[in-house]
Amino acid sequence: MQITITGTGYVGLVTGVCLAEIGHNVICYDIDEPKVQMMKQGISPIYEPGLDELMRKNMEQGRLFFTADEQVAYGQADIIYIAVGTPEKEDGSADLTYVEEAALAISRYVRKRVIVVIKSTVPVGTNDRIQRMIHEHKAAEADITVVSNPEFLREGSAIYDMFHGDRIVIGANDPEAATVIADINKPFGIPIIHTDIRSAEMIKYAANAFLATKISFINEIANICEKVGANIDDVAYGIGQDHRIGPHFLKAGIGYGGSCFPKDTKALVQLAGNVQHQFELLESVIRVNNRQQLGLLDKAKQYVGSLQGKKVALLGLSFKPHTDDVRESAAIIMAKKLVDEGAYVVAYDPVAVENAKKQLPESVQYAATVVEAIDAAEVAFIVTEWEEIKQTPLYVFQEQMLTPFIFDGRNCYSLENARYSGVTYISIGRAPIFGHVCQQTK
Ligand code: UDX
Repeated sequence: MQITITGTGYVGLVTGVCLAEIGHNVICYDIDEPKVQMMKQGISPIYEPGLDELMRKNMEQGRLFFTADEQVAYGQADIIYIAVGTPEKEDGSADLTYVEEAALAISRYVRKRVIVVIKSTVPVGTNDRIQRMIHEHKAAEADITVVSNPEFLREGSAIYDMFHGDRIVIGANDPEAATVIADINKPFGIPIIHTDIRSAEMIKYAANAFLATKISFINEIANICEKVGANIDDVAYGIGQDHRIGPHFLKAGIGYGGSCFPKDTKALVQLAGNVQHQFELLESVIRVNNRQQLGLLDKAKQYVGSLQGKKVALLGLSFKPHTDDVRESAAIIMAKKLVDEGAYVVAYDPVAVENAKKQLPESVQYAATVVEAIDAAEVAFIVTEWEEIKQTPLYVFQEQMLTPFIFDGRNCYSLENARYSGVTYISIGRAPIFGHVCQQTK
């Protein structure tokens, strides 16, 4: 079986590399020539732990190829995965332009039996629409079936997830095509769930919406904990021990970011609206998250007063550790607001600086280390829980900063640790620690 993957972003590239790793012949296709040249040299255009090594290994073993040529990509393929982006449109709905363009290109080149697997996250009904579109444009001798196979990969642990995921969902109206895709995936050893196409599409949105709901829920509980003197770490542990709730995705913090949760929750609200259903619960989840992303900044102003002219260290720029992705990252939103308010922002991130620079005002400075970022700073915000940041002892903040006000959006330190370090430490859903004299302005 010859497999082609269209789109070499986080999902497409990881899927292609891992399918090669379990023994398939894979061509990864992208319209971006320079990116393809880079991949041909065994260099991954994205930061994903373990990806470069696995890429090079499978290229050397002759199972993994890269091309920017449509004819090469689609001419001989038996199975074509569409893994192109579905960015957010202004009204929150998903922009399907790239998926449609891929479908039309496939229709132009295919001359035999081919299964098109849609990996991109697309609104319910899209797979059916793409199937119709392909049928209208394909060559007479081509026999093309569309199958939905949503991805559940987490950036930063995407390769691990490919081999250890909880389930693989295959949505198809053609049982034979479903069996072929199930066989392709069998070596991963992950349970396979077969559904109709629309249910598979909905599983993806519902899963992300549910996880986002868990996060906004625990963040709201954290906000109340702060006001009633409870500790969110203990509360989250206490509820997580109930098997019906489970311990995962109950880490309170600065809100969710990334390329999926913010986009997919909005798209699901929009999708529901299209069928005259107001998804009030999910609307609230989104509102809570928007507020949470700026909550720490509001708290800082409450304790420190105006940030104008102050040196502010921003620790972490990616939306979570182990990725260079800054899409919808709270750090980016905070940095822009801090600059607007006249703060002198010095940011640190081990891998995301280049991506952040494209989005942030030029006045933001970048430090090579945590210590350089916090040096003589009056306020430090911890936004991403990178090891390099978590491992910096609090006494270093105390020694290095002009005034050790630390606002931790990821609860990286224990309160006990903070209590003995002499810093003022404000975290999420836990009691504030006033290590040095602090004049509350409100
Ligand atoms: C997510 C889904 O997990 C994945 O299945 C889907 O395919 C794509 O979207 P990803 O966006 O890579 O993956 O990251 P994830 O680890 O899920 O975290 C998303 C955001 O939620 C991050 O900003 C993270 O910091 C935040 N988060 C996660 C919390 O604030 N608390 C938690 O308990 C868990």
